[in-house]
Formats: sequence, C-alpha cells, structure tokens
Amino acid sequence: MPATPASRYRIDGGQPVSGRIRGLGAKNFATKAMVAALLAEGKTTLLNAPRIGDVDITCELLAAAGAKLAWPSEGVLEIDASALASADVPVPDSGSNRIPILLLGVLLHRLGAAHVPVVSGCNIGARPVDFHLDAARLFGADIEIAKDGYRARRHGPLNACHYRLPYPSVGATESCLFLGVLARGTSIIENVATEPEIIALITLLNAMGARIQLRPNRELVIEGVDRLYATTFEVLGDRIEAASWAALAAATDGDITVDGIDPATLINFFGPFNAVGGGVSIEGPRSIRFFRRRPLKSIVLETDVFPGFATDWQQPFAVMLTQASGTSIIHETVYERRFDYLEALAALGARTQIETHCLGSVACRFRGRDFPHSAIIQGPTKLRSEGLSLEVPDLRAGLAYVMAAALAEGETTITGVPRVERGYGALAERTRGLTLRLATA
Ligand code: EPZ
Repeated sequence: MPATPASRYRIDGGQPVSGRIRGLGAKNFATKAMVAALLAEGKTTLLNAPRIGDVDITCELLAAAGAKLAWPSEGVLEIDASALASADVPVPDSGSNRIPILLLGVLLHRLGAAHVPVVSGCNIGARPVDFHLDAARLFGADIEIAKDGYRARRHGPLNACHYRLPYPSVGATESCLFLGVLARGTSIIENVATEPEIIALITLLNAMGARIQLRPNRELVIEGVDRLYATTFEVLGDRIEAASWAALAAATDGDITVDGIDPATLINFFGPFNAVGGGVSIEGPRSIRFFRRRPLKSIVLETDVFPGFATDWQQPFAVMLTQASGTSIIHETVYERRFDYLEALAALGARTQIETHCLGSVACRFRGRDFPHSAIIQGPTKLRSEGLSLEVPDLRAGLAYVMAAALAEGETTITGVPRVERGYGALAERTRGLTLRLATA
C-alpha cells in the first residue's frame, strides 16, 4: 500500500489499454476466510491474501475481538485466534462493510455473545440482514435489536436447525455456515448461494475439521463438530476484478493478460463476453488473455446468483456495451438499485436509460415494485471528457468509472478513490504494467 493513500485519480483516456496485470486474491473470500479463522483456537495462515482496504478493515475488526494478526511476507496473512476477549464489534472506519454481521455467529460460538453494529455495504440497495438474524434465532440465539446494533446471546451451545433461505444470499449462507459448523446436531440449510467464494469457504471450513456437504439443489447439510483446527489456505483469484480488465481490453480494443485467476470461476462470464465480441485465450493454468475479437455488438443480459451472470460483473460490462453496436439490455435481479452509476457514463456521452420494468426473460423479485433495475444502453458512442470530475458511488462502480475514463478521449478526474481501493488496492501501482494513463493525487 502506498504511504499516503490516493484521494483522486487523473485519467487521460482514449487509447487502447494493453499489457499485463496480476489479479488480486478475491476480496469476497479473503475477508470471510479471516472471519472463519476465529472459529479455531490457533494460527490460521492465508496465502495470496490481498492488501486492500476491506482486508485492513477486517483486520481491525478481528483485532478488536482479540485476534493477533501479522503479515510475515507479501500476501501472507496470519491470524491467531487463540485468545478472543471482546464480543463488541466496532463500527468499521469506512462506515460501511458487510463483515460485522458475519461475526455474529462466530463470536456467539467463541464467547457466548456478540454485539454487532448496524452498517451498510456499498450504496446499491437496502441490503437488510433479516436472513442472518432469522438463522441465528433458529440456531437458538437470543437477539435484541438495539439502536446501536444487534445484541446476540446464547444460553448453552447453539443447536442445529432446518432453515430455508428466502433467497440464495451470499452473506446469509456464510452466516449459516458459521452458525452450523459448531452447533450441536445436523443442520439442513436450503436454497443456499453457491458462488465460487462460498465453495472456497466450505472447502476451508472442511479443511479446518468441519463436516459440511453441499448437495444438489442448493442444500447444505452441516454436521456440527466440537472444535475446528487452524490451517493454511490459499485465497482464490478475484473473478470480479478479472472480468473488469477483460471488459476494459475489449472496450478499448486493447489486449490485457490477467495473472492469478482460475478460468473456471469465470465460466459464465466467457459466454456473454464472447457473444459481445470479446476474445479469450487461456495462456497458462492461472493466466488469461482478453482482447476484442471482432466489432462489438449488443446483448440482452440478466444478472443472477451463481451460476448466473454475477451482479458485480454488470458495471464493467455496461461500460463495454457503450462500445457495442445496437441496443443492449441489462436486467439486474440481485440488487434493486444498482444503476445509479449510469448517470456518470451518460455525462461522458453514453446513451443509457433506466427502467423500473423487468426487461429480461424472467420476472424477478423486483417486479411491480418501482425499483430502477433494468438498463438500456445504445451504442456505439464515442465517450469524451472535457476535464469532467466523477465521484465514485461504490466499489464496483468505481472501477467502471476508471474504465469509462480510460475509454473517453480527454482527461477525467475521479474522486472518492478510497472506495475503489477498498477492493482493488493501490490501482496506480498495480496498473503499471498496463498502458493505462492513470495518475494519483
Ligand atoms: C455479497 O454481498 C458480496 N459482498 C457482494 O459484492 C455481491 O454483490 C453479493 O454478495 C452478491 O453476489 C461481499 O461478499 C462482501 P447477498 P452480500 O446477501 O452477501 C438480499 C462487492 O462490491 N438480502 O447475496 O451482502 C439483499 O438485499 C459487493 O464486492 C436480504 O434481503 O449479498 C440482496 O438483494 C457488492 N436479506 C440479495 O439478498 C438478507 O438478510 C443478495 O444479497 C440478506 C440479503
């Protein structure tokens, strides 16, 4: 990390972006693996741990509980949770982060209580935590909803339960895993999320001594055990970041190789990417080259839970679609309000429109609820910036702004950079191997 974190980027765009970049370890697994480490009384070692803002925030939350954390070398994070002492989870400095609610189950097991502040995640929808709380109650926790957060307590060990998630929520599935692994008896959790980061978390917990089976039809069977053991585990590559570099290469007619990413985690990205006109070449076991194979053309696309097209892929994809000829449609079915960033693209010259109807092939949970969750993008449009300044609204939109600025002829200033760096680290340093003209201030 740089000594002084950047507060703004200045991007001089309008040229193809080419080169090579080392992908980060996945934020959305690394932070959960860190929480999992608290379940074992010993030293867990995470390899390929990304040095990003969200990991730093999670380090602070774990340290406040009494864990000892160290980075003995680049990408290696040690977490010693032998002596936990505090059940009070502080409000993260960033003010928004999804990790505190995941600590509820873990601290309940280890300390018998958990006091978790109410914090939001990125500003992309209401993001309630009702499934997490319902699950904890079914496992036997008493939960009081106070002004400053959730106060949970257990009387005796937590007991196994049968719970059907109303929606395959990633975070609530993780909460159920944390609650179930050390509960007494066998829990059945239905309708769970199966994202690659969830599979990695199940693998990590099983490597720690848990007995979790993922059955077909999104069902988890968790046989509770008495204790878990610390282990060493490698963080998988970040499929969201990799998809963003892919979209940037195709959008600018550049050529970008991303190292450190398992192609299997991009399985349902490649299809739409190829359909639009992107090209993919697997260069090695964890190395993928992305480029533009032919002139880009429009697509109709729906985001969904895994194995669907990830909601976190839609922003970089939308930037690429501004360069595709025809009318593209994106129907966002995971979050009710994830298109605010299109306004900024429009300021650069993109032709976009947001609709409250379900414009995809399925009616989603948001049907008839007046949420702006479908987008229409007309292309191709030449993006231009005459010294425009864009404020980053959330992490994923932030990288989409970087992409849009790289596409747009002229100079664009991007502010609110810490929101981007929470998930992508020091971008100026990390993109040195690319022909991206990005300076920090
Ligand atoms: C995770 O968020 C990721 N964050 C998100 O990435 C990602 O977009 C999302 O999963 C979906 O893949 C982290 O892993 C830290 P959810 P999470 O619970 O777990 C509703 C990023 O930038 N819901 O799967 O918070 C919720 O409102 C972020 O890296 C409830 O209604 O997402 C949403 O509509 C952005 N009640 C849907 O489920 C609940 O109790 C999916 O949310 C929980 C969720």
